[in-house]
Amino acid sequence: MDDEKIKIEDIKPDKSLRILTGDRPTGKLHIGHYFGSLKSRVELQDKFETFIEVADVQALTDNFNNPDKVKQNVSQIVMDELAVGIDPNKTTIFLQSLIPEIAELTVFYSNLVTIARLQRNPTVKTEIAQKRELFGESVTYGFLGYPVSQAADITSFDATYVPVGEDQLPLIEQCREIVRKFNSIYGKTLREPIAVLSSNGRIKGLDGNEKMGKSLGNAIYLSDDETTIKEKVMNAVTDKNRIKKDDPGNPNICMVYYYHNLFTNKEEVKNICEECKKGKRGCVACKKQLIESINNELKPIRDKRAYYEQRPNEVKDILMSGTNHAREIAKETMKKVKKSMKLDY
Ligand code: TRP
Repeated sequence: MDDEKIKIEDIKPDKSLRILTGDRPTGKLHIGHYFGSLKSRVELQDKFETFIEVADVQALTDNFNNPDKVKQNVSQIVMDELAVGIDPNKTTIFLQSLIPEIAELTVFYSNLVTIARLQRNPTVKTEIAQKRELFGESVTYGFLGYPVSQAADITSFDATYVPVGEDQLPLIEQCREIVRKFNSIYGKTLREPIAVLSSNGRIKGLDGNEKMGKSLGNAIYLSDDETTIKEKVMNAVTDKNRIKKDDPGNPNICMVYYYHNLFTNKEEVKNICEECKKGKRGCVACKKQLIESINNELKPIRDKRAYYEQRPNEVKDILMSGTNHAREIAKETMKKVKKSMKLDY
């Protein structure tokens, strides 16, 4: 049986098992993150013992020259998580740089991975190609090695499940390899994690791009206000062949329709589709309705975020007490690891 990855709807709730996910604090979270992972995190926190790492050390691997950006985004990420419904009483949110055991474990793991294997990792390969401007001809040791550090993130907490997007699968695979190698040399100590894929997958941008991203300029942020949402939706790509309002439209090539599927109730979506095909619904009216649907979904998130924006100390306390709890667990793992490696002085 292939137990390397599993679909989110196929995992059985078990409070004795841990889930770990992480975000690099390099920007605010957008609705791509919301449908791709945040919504499922909110559900998973009732079913497992869940951990969310704010991966500031990893963020520095390709932002080492911009520490301000990483620092500023730490609290932004925490506020986004809290705003969508991550409950700090159920989920441990913690900061990577305050857990030195992760860095220590990374050093131990670095003996178990070859340079060639890291260079072959498809995720790392793609990312290096995209970051030519930063790395030039030769990538840094830190960036090439971030899968090793991510393996330390996951195994420090003895995580069973790691919810990730498709693009992260090679990193989980590499983590599993490190675990197997460690266990075969030093004796069974670590658990091989299983990747959990969300059923939604990736969502497209309103501009028709396959991906939503900050660098692509097409992201709708959880923190966007009503005016910003209106602007973004009004500029969305619709059926280009539809010139006049009563021309029949093709919803399948319209981004507004695609977004109605995410934000508007099913019955209404059916209506929209039929009216568009018959030329009975104009694009402007359709966009206005989408703006309303998006705002309905985002309003409670926005309100909750505003609450935390006004209480930076509360946000900090949540992150610090999560980090204290996480550190206790990472210390226990380190103890076991050192014992296995005969470093238990
Ligand atoms: N690499 C992940 C990303 O870019 C972030 C991350 C860091 C992560 N540590 C992790 C994800 C541990 C899952 C588990 O999105």
